[in-house]
Amino acid sequence: MNASEMQGKRVVITGGGSGIGADMALAFARAGAEVVITGRRDAPLAATAAHHPSIHPAVVDVTDEAAMVALFEGLGEVDIVIANAGAAESGPLARTDLEQWQRLLDVNLTGVFLTLREGLRHLRDGGRLLAVASTAGLKGYAYVAPYCAAKHGVVGLVRALAQETAGRDLTVNALCPGFTDTPLLAASVETIVARTGQSAEQARAHFQSTNPAGRLIQPAEVTATALWLCGPHSGAINGQAISISGGET
Ligand SMILES: NC(=O)c1ccc[n+]([C@@H]2O[C@H](COP(=O)([O-])OP(=O)(O)OC[C@H]3O[C@@H](n4cnc5c(N)ncnc54)[C@H](OP(=O)(O)O)[C@@H]3O)[C@@H](O)[C@H]2O)c1
Repeated sequence: MNASEMQGKRVVITGGGSGIGADMALAFARAGAEVVITGRRDAPLAATAAHHPSIHPAVVDVTDEAAMVALFEGLGEVDIVIANAGAAESGPLARTDLEQWQRLLDVNLTGVFLTLREGLRHLRDGGRLLAVASTAGLKGYAYVAPYCAAKHGVVGLVRALAQETAGRDLTVNALCPGFTDTPLLAASVETIVARTGQSAEQARAHFQSTNPAGRLIQPAEVTATALWLCGPHSGAINGQAISISGGET
């Protein structure tokens, strides 16, 4: 994508202070867009915004309906909305209490619902809605049932919304990365080390081995897919759950 492809576009990326969201924010800003990034913590948002003058931080929790409504009302019309914020926790289902289940559905599914709903209400013609789901939205993984259920929900939400809006000048799609080299994955590695006594290398190797190519996905590979879906020639791609996983799904 050249430096002017996104000129004049207004982009919102939830969870844009770190990992995949931060990588996307920088790429869209470099392509000419004005990018608003959100998250709960100010420091990572400020650090990401410091990389480009067209990245603007806003502390907003995706699970807070009033705050999400206020964010989009404050922004006015937008062109691209990426529901990327998410969080993972692991544990056996038999030991998952209702509070943890609800917490993971709130951020990973309800947060996407609020982001896409508000995005849709403020979307210009030719707009693009994206949700960062996961291969966990396409297949099951052991010990992450609430996360998998939420991500499957995101894929269903995107498919339904694409049907509902098919006659309009917009698209809505889900990105489904496999295990990706981000702070979220680093935290999962730490959890495995703490719970099982495995080394960090062994834990990372476990995640790498799920990808037939034997490696982690890089944030830039997810970003490249997002740029393509938001570009001028992807208007026929709608309601898809696109796997970015080296062939895992
Ligand atoms: N890494 C992987 O292996 C992988 C694979 C497939 C899909 N994904 C998905 O990719 C997306 C991005 O994750 P990542 O891997 O880039 O991890 P990350 O660096 O931890 O990014 C997640 C971001 O979401 C934000 N966030 C979390 N809860 C939030 C809330 N309630 N409100 C607003 N923002 C919130 C976090 O910021 P704050 O904590 O400051 O709020 C953080 O910046 C997630 O949806 C994740 O499920 C990741």
